[in-house]
Amino acid sequence: MGPLYRNLVLAVVLSGLAAWGAATLGLFEPPPPPLVRSAEALDRGRRVFERSCRHCHADIPLERRVAGWSAQRAWDAIGRLPEVYAAMPPFRGTPEERRDLALYVAELGAGARSGGAARQGAGP
Ligand code: HEC
Repeated sequence: MGPLYRNLVLAVVLSGLAAWGAATLGLFEPPPPPLVRSAEALDRGRRVFERSCRHCHADIPLERRVAGWSAQRAWDAIGRLPEVYAAMPPFRGTPEERRDLALYVAELGAGARSGGAARQGAGP
């Protein structure tokens, strides 16, 4: 086996490993849409929450559990809910809904930090 052939095999093996590593690390997941907070996004996020999360989280309030979370941290958690807690189903929304939900969850956490009053007005 000549050195050229050996280098070729090595290159193929290494690029395969790199692709596998990137996939494993989740680098092929599309990046989040910019997590820009706005009244509209929070409002949409609240509605996503009511539709997808509230039937459980009315009894398991999230505010304290997500206190101090950034929207980025919430985005990450929403992408792997069954890993966060096995009882939770995976979130099946669009990336935009996931973004709005992440902003809303971060807002819940911010409310908890400042005594929890901020979020109460919105709910029924
Ligand atoms: C089937 C019921 C159920 C649904 C639906 C559900 N959750 Fe949960 N969730 C739980 C339970 C149970 C826990 C764990 C509570 C505890 O800490 O004891 C939890 C915990 C969490 C936590 C805290 C994680 C931590 O690190 O402490 C977050 C964040 C969360 N849920 C977000 C969501 C969001 C966002 C949705 C909607 C997309 C959702 N959950 C839907 C049951 C549910």
